[in-house]
Amino acid sequence: MTNPTAHTERRYQSGFGNEYASEAVAGALPQGRNNPQRAPFDLYTELLSGTAFTAPRHENRRSWLYRRQPSVVSGRYQPYAQAHWTTGAGREIALPPEPLRWHPMPLEGGAAAADFIDGMHTIAANGDAESQVGIGSLMYLAGRSMDQRAFVNADGEMLVVPQQGRLVITTELGVLDVKPGEIALLPRGMAFKVALPDGLSRGYVCENYGAHFRLPELGPIGSNGLANARDFQAPVAAFEDDGGAYELVKKFGGRFWKAPARQSPFNVVAWHGNLAPVKYDTANFMVIGSISFDHPDPSIFTVLTSPSDTPGTANCDFVIFPPRWMVMENTFRPPWFHRNLMSEFMGLVLGEYDAKPGGFKPGGASLHNCMVPHGPDEEAFDKATHADLKPHKLDNTLAFMFESRYRFIPTDFALKSPALDTDYADCWAGLKDQFKP
Ligand SMILES: [Fe+2]
Repeated sequence: MTNPTAHTERRYQSGFGNEYASEAVAGALPQGRNNPQRAPFDLYTELLSGTAFTAPRHENRRSWLYRRQPSVVSGRYQPYAQAHWTTGAGREIALPPEPLRWHPMPLEGGAAAADFIDGMHTIAANGDAESQVGIGSLMYLAGRSMDQRAFVNADGEMLVVPQQGRLVITTELGVLDVKPGEIALLPRGMAFKVALPDGLSRGYVCENYGAHFRLPELGPIGSNGLANARDFQAPVAAFEDDGGAYELVKKFGGRFWKAPARQSPFNVVAWHGNLAPVKYDTANFMVIGSISFDHPDPSIFTVLTSPSDTPGTANCDFVIFPPRWMVMENTFRPPWFHRNLMSEFMGLVLGEYDAKPGGFKPGGASLHNCMVPHGPDEEAFDKATHADLKPHKLDNTLAFMFESRYRFIPTDFALKSPALDTDYADCWAGLKDQFKP
C-alpha cells in the first residue's frame, strides 16, 4: 500500500498470456467468481477486454480489475496538443522508392523538457487505427518523468524498445522496471505513466493498431527456443495510496485529449486475467542459426508477431539481431542483398550491425520498404568476402526490426528532419561490376 513508483525492487509474475492473479492487499481478490455482488473491501469490479468477447480461446485476452474507483470517473475531456505523434499512413506524402536512413535523433534541445508522451515522434506508419490494421514506428526523445500524468492509448498496444535510459513504467496492473536491452509490451487502453530515472532517454515504439502481439509458432524448432514464455514478466498488483490529482491524456482515433482526475488511475488493488503489461529481457532470447552453411531467413529471429488476416504474412513481426556465434562454412555471413515483399523499419539499440558496420548508429533508424533493394554496404561486403571463416562471435550488439506486410509512409517530420541521412545510398556506390569471366 505504498506509492508504486517509490519501490526499487520489483516482484513479477512470469509467463506470457497466462492467467495471472495478484493482490496488493490480502483478501482483495474475489475467489470463485469474477463479479460478486460486493467485491472485497467494497472495491469496484471492472473488466478490461483486449480482444472481442468471442475471439478464439487461444487469442482471447481480458483481465478483471478490483479498484478503488472505476476508470469511468474523470473530468471532461478537452483537446490536447501533440503535433509529432501521427497515426496511420500519411496519404499526402510522396513516398520515395529508395532506402531511407536516419542518424540518431538528438536528445539535446527540446527533449529535456518533454516527457514520454510529449516526446513521442512518429517516424513512419502504415495502415489505419480505425480499421485496426498496421502499425506506427515511433521514437521518444524525453527528459522529464510523468509525475501526476497518466496516458491511455485507445488506438493500439505499445511495444517499447528503450535505447538510452531506464524506464519505470507504472501501469494500472503494477510497475515494470525496463532497461535498454529489455522491451515492454503495454496493452491497448491500459493507463500508464513513465518515469525516467536516468534523465535524457531515447527509444523506439511500435504502436500496433492490429491484432495483439503473441509468441510465434515454432514449427519444426519444437517446443523450446526463441523467446520462451516463462521469460516474460508481468507486474504484481500495486496501487497509489494518495496519488493526488492527475491529468489523464488519451489518444483516441489519432487525436489527443486531456481530462482532470481527482484520484490516481493507479488504484487497482487486485486483478486477475491474461491481459497484462509484460517486459522481456532480450538476453534470454535463444538464438537459432545455421551450423553448416548459408543462413536461414531472418524470421528465425522473431520475438513476437502480430498476425494479419493472411496466414504467415504479419501485420508486424518484432525481430531482433542479438549477440550470436557465426560458424557457417563457405558462406557470405552478413545478410544477403535482397528485395522483399515485407517492409522493414530497423533500429539499433547498441553496438554495430554486421551489414552496416560504420553508418548505422545506436539510436538511428532505417526504412527499407516493399521491393526496395538493400543489403550489406561496401565495407561489410569487402570484409565478408575476404574474411577467414573461423567461428566468430558477434558481440555487444542489438538491432531489431518492426517488419510489416504494409508499406511504411514516413512522416513529414521524419523526411524534413536534419537526422535524415541524405548520403545513405552512397554506402553501396562502391560496389563495382567485378565480373571476371
Ligand atoms: Fe532487409
